[in-house]
Amino acid sequence: MIIAGNFKSNLTRNEVKAYAKNLQEKLDSQSGTLPKIRIYPSFSALLDNTYSHFKIGAQNAYPAINGGFTGEITFLQLQEFGITSLILGHSERRNLLNEDEKLLREKFDFYAKHNFEIIYCIGESKSVRDSGEKEVENFLQKQVKNIESSYENLIIAYEPIWAIGSGNSASEEQIESTHSFLSTLSKAPLLYGGSVSESNAASILALQNVSGVLVGGASLKLDSFSQIIQTGIKQLML
Ligand code: PGA
Repeated sequence: MIIAGNFKSNLTRNEVKAYAKNLQEKLDSQSGTLPKIRIYPSFSALLDNTYSHFKIGAQNAYPAINGGFTGEITFLQLQEFGITSLILGHSERRNLLNEDEKLLREKFDFYAKHNFEIIYCIGESKSVRDSGEKEVENFLQKQVKNIESSYENLIIAYEPIWAIGSGNSASEEQIESTHSFLSTLSKAPLLYGGSVSESNAASILALQNVSGVLVGGASLKLDSFSQIIQTGIKQLML
């Protein structure tokens, strides 16, 4: 089970420092098996990866060791923080920054070569969803086919674009049927993302073929994120 928080372009370095310290303390007093916990702050708020209960990762990275890539972060800068976990292909990067399949493939291949854990995000738009389940499956299959789906440190996050930040997650039926389809394409753990909160995490984490959640808005408040982690712990005890 994996509980991941994507802070996007929120929280300052000082806020993330306090968040990480408090999260570590909360988890110190926790009994039971913890899920794999990840947080993904923005670049300016990356911290040394020294927390025993969770890992800090990056939301994106350029596929190079270092070099002339203005505005990007590369392998050596991540390595300095001890970062080995990366989100790639988030729909906000695909849509706002025009990241295409070719660039994503390059990023994937580069960081897979360096053994990174990669949360690879896929997900359809509202118009694809409205065209029917077959169209959704075809769309997602193309996105998955872009990368090496048998990569051992791959985690796939299914994040329907229409559910992200909307306050309304996909329905349990939609998540279950989409994840069941994705499980035929890859053996990677499958996360659901898109308006996951402390109120719907329990029912989402209980679904077949859901190995965890990628949480945006609700990860920004430590209380909400901790409650989602609690839900994961309870689920692991079942
Ligand atoms: P959300 O974002 O939880 O705020 O919908 C999820 C994501 O974009 O990863």
